[in-house]
Amino acid sequence: MHPTRANPFRPTFGVSPTILAGRDSLLESFTLGLAEGPGSPFRALLISGARGMGKTVMLNEFEDAAAAQGWVKLRVYPDSSMLDTLTNTTLPEAIRDQTGPGDKRMLTGVSISGIGQITTAADPDHSHPTPTLISRLRELATLLRQRASGILITLDELQSTDINHLHELATAVQDLLRDDFDIALVAAGLPEGVERLLQHEGTTFLRRAERIHLGEVDHADSVAMFLETTTAGGRRIDRDAAELAAHISVGYPYSMQLTGSLAWARATLDKTDHITTRQVESVRDEVIRRMGMQVHEPSLHSVPDGELTILYAIAELSDNGEMVATGDIAALMKVKPNALSVQRRQLLRRGLLTVPKYGYLNFVLPYMREHLLANPQHRPL
Ligand SMILES: Nc1ncnc2c1ncn2[C@@H]1O[C@H](COP(=O)(O)OP(=O)(O)OP(=O)(O)O)[C@@H](O)[C@H]1O
Ligand SMILES: [Mg+2]
Repeated sequence: MHPTRANPFRPTFGVSPTILAGRDSLLESFTLGLAEGPGSPFRALLISGARGMGKTVMLNEFEDAAAAQGWVKLRVYPDSSMLDTLTNTTLPEAIRDQTGPGDKRMLTGVSISGIGQITTAADPDHSHPTPTLISRLRELATLLRQRASGILITLDELQSTDINHLHELATAVQDLLRDDFDIALVAAGLPEGVERLLQHEGTTFLRRAERIHLGEVDHADSVAMFLETTTAGGRRIDRDAAELAAHISVGYPYSMQLTGSLAWARATLDKTDHITTRQVESVRDEVIRRMGMQVHEPSLHSVPDGELTILYAIAELSDNGEMVATGDIAALMKVKPNALSVQRRQLLRRGLLTVPKYGYLNFVLPYMREHLLANPQHRPL
């Protein structure tokens, strides 16, 4: 009577949700920007957002939108060989993919030396210098231009990127844009890291990039996500239960997936295809514990004691998640308010705190307060 159904919720970082909540207008702007031409501001995009706010998912969505217009996606990973991999592996593969099935057949089994042959074929006396990032991008963009499509480069974890690599990549993209090639660069990272990178010399192009800050999903969009995802998975959820799930996950995409996933599991154990408020309510504590393990612990990992003390003070003073006056924090710590300014600034840069109103502070991530209060052993003495 009750078939086991696959859980449609995806509480896993970097994995796209079954139903994407509340990012329609952003996706629409991006899609239009691709079709618009090299003059569109959406050709250089910087996405920032707190951990778990859906940055990687947004990059995946942008890639899909670009692929739907016939664009080629190139992923860049922020490691020490970032540009080397792009220039000597990713780009040659993409170029080979564009050179038609006939050529492909010819090249099977020749692999690396075959790739070398493509680029030197028109240059029998090897008088040209070795291909560079720019020359290979141009080669690919020229092939794509014949089909009226372009190149989308995505870079995740922007905060870990070497500034020199970023500079070189941005320069290459800018170079192609200046010659009216269809190319777009989208990078995503944590707010603190993005700000830090932009303060460097040599990031002028990126400073002019379109900035997108991913924030919480609206309550209505969140409720719709619970309803639609549950239906997509083959079950029903009460409207009240979807409202409660949206309330528990406070518009934070990762906790939305967690709440949905756990409520789904509860329904499976209860052998029902109908999720009720009782089931959603019963997983609330587990959502908070999982948030602690998967989100809070990692984000507190490298926070020094001086800053941790402030976070604990806020957790203690905050009344049910309400913002806390900086003066009250200082009073609790028995210091003058201006003695906290350095740590306060650091915590804002880390994306752990925000200033909801002048003179006040609050946590960025939902349930951080609960996590700290539940783990007093990590409080510095
Ligand atoms: N718009 C959305 N609607 C529903 N779920 C979403 C949405 N965006 C992201 N998610 C879900 O939220 C979780 C986190 O998404 P993602 O990995 O993209 O976050 P992130 O910002 O890249 O995090 P990190 O900073 O740790 O890299 C995933 O489980 C994903 O499925
Ligand atoms: Mg990510």
